[in-house]
This record gives sequence, structure tokens and C-alpha cells, in this order.
Amino acid sequence: MQDREKKPLVIALDGPAASGKGTLAQLIAKQYGFAHLDTGALYRGVAAVILEAGGDPNNAEKAAVFARDFSIDQIENLNIRTKEVGAAASIVAANSEVRAALLDFQRRFAAAPPGGAKGAVLDGRDIGTVVCPDATVKFFVTASPEARAGRRWRELKVANPDLEETAVYKDLLERDARDAARADAPMVAADDAELLDTTHLSIDAAFAAARRVIDGVFRRCG
Ligand code: DC
Repeated sequence: MQDREKKPLVIALDGPAASGKGTLAQLIAKQYGFAHLDTGALYRGVAAVILEAGGDPNNAEKAAVFARDFSIDQIENLNIRTKEVGAAASIVAANSEVRAALLDFQRRFAAAPPGGAKGAVLDGRDIGTVVCPDATVKFFVTASPEARAGRRWRELKVANPDLEETAVYKDLLERDARDAARADAPMVAADDAELLDTTHLSIDAAFAAARRVIDGVFRRCG
């Protein structure tokens, strides 16, 4: 019983690209003083290292070697927020050996959050289903593809003013399909996840809704 009480609290946020889960995860971590791990950044990091080395993200064997050698510290020296890295990340994320190589780090982060934080917030695609199936609170954050493509386009066009919104929309649908259809840890809501549709919600409203759920669970856990 005492051990259970000492276990860090874990908040899992899963959902498709540009659903708002990353921003929500940051706000939640700040609100509760928890450590935050953007697990998509790990897949993006592996993809960026492969692309930088002139490698092919579709080469499963080599991608697995890159993933096993990968360390989160490499991310700060990589540009992981490009459209190309996003597409390559979705390819390497369908590779079971890449997923296995990154799993342990994510679980250790949740079990022993850095900085002595009493909890961890992880956002991704399989946190509530595979990485932390015992998470204290789980969300599946979603929004319509049109709303998500608009958000992602507005972010990306800052660096790439010629980018067409339709191209972003097409990429997003391809990525959703690949993330949801893969055999290993597909993007799917955990049975016990709280659904949060942000299509018509401001980030403040989505955050308030998430907080109500979290506070309710924390009250029940004591
Ligand atoms: O959330 P994102 O766009 O940064 O994620 C990049 C890719 O990584 C995306 O195609 C899905 C994949 N991913 C995953 O498969 N599992 C996770 N836990 C996080 C991301």
C-alpha cells in the first residue's frame, strides 16, 4: 500500500497530430509541477538523425540501429519540427524494433520523473495503451482533420511561407492513417481514456476541461 502511494502520478495524453495534446501536456505539467515528455520528439529525433546521415527511414534494420544508439540529448541539436522529419518519424514509428528501443526510456521517465517531480505527463500515440497502461489519468485528445491541418499549416508556414494548406492536410491524413493502421502500438484511445475533442475549443477551454478531469481523479485518489 505504501509503495502504491509513493508511485509517481502519470498523466497520459494520446491523439493525432495537431490535436492540441502537446500544448495541453505542457500546461498540465506546469500546473501540477510534473515533468513532461513529448514522446513524438523521440521518434522525430530518430528520423532526423537518419535523414541527416543520408539514410532511408524505410530501411527497417538500419533505423533500428539508429534508434538503439539514440539519446534524448541529441534532440537539441536537431531540427525536428519540419514536414520532412514529421513524415519520416511516422515511418520509423511503424517499425517495431524502433518502438522497442524507445520504450524503456519512456517507462523510466514515467516511473522516476526527472528533477524529483512527483508526477509525469507523457504525450504521444500509445502512452495510455502501451507505455503506461496504469497511468493515473488518460486523455485521448482529438479534433477534426480540417481544424488540425489549419493549426499545423499556420505553425509551419512561419518558416515556409509558400506551403499550401492542402499539402499539409494531405500529409496529415497520410500520417493519421499510418499511425492508426500500424500493427505495433497503433494510435487508438485506451478504453479508460477521457475523450477531449478540441475542434471548437480554445486552448484555455481545453485546459480547463482537462483540469476538471485531473482534479476529480486526484481527489478520488486522495
Ligand atoms: O506527435 P508527433 O507529430 O511529434 O509524432 C511524430 C510521429 O511519431 C507520429 O507520426 C507518430 C509517432 N509517435 C508514435 O508512434 N508514438 C508515440 N508515442 C509518439 C509519436
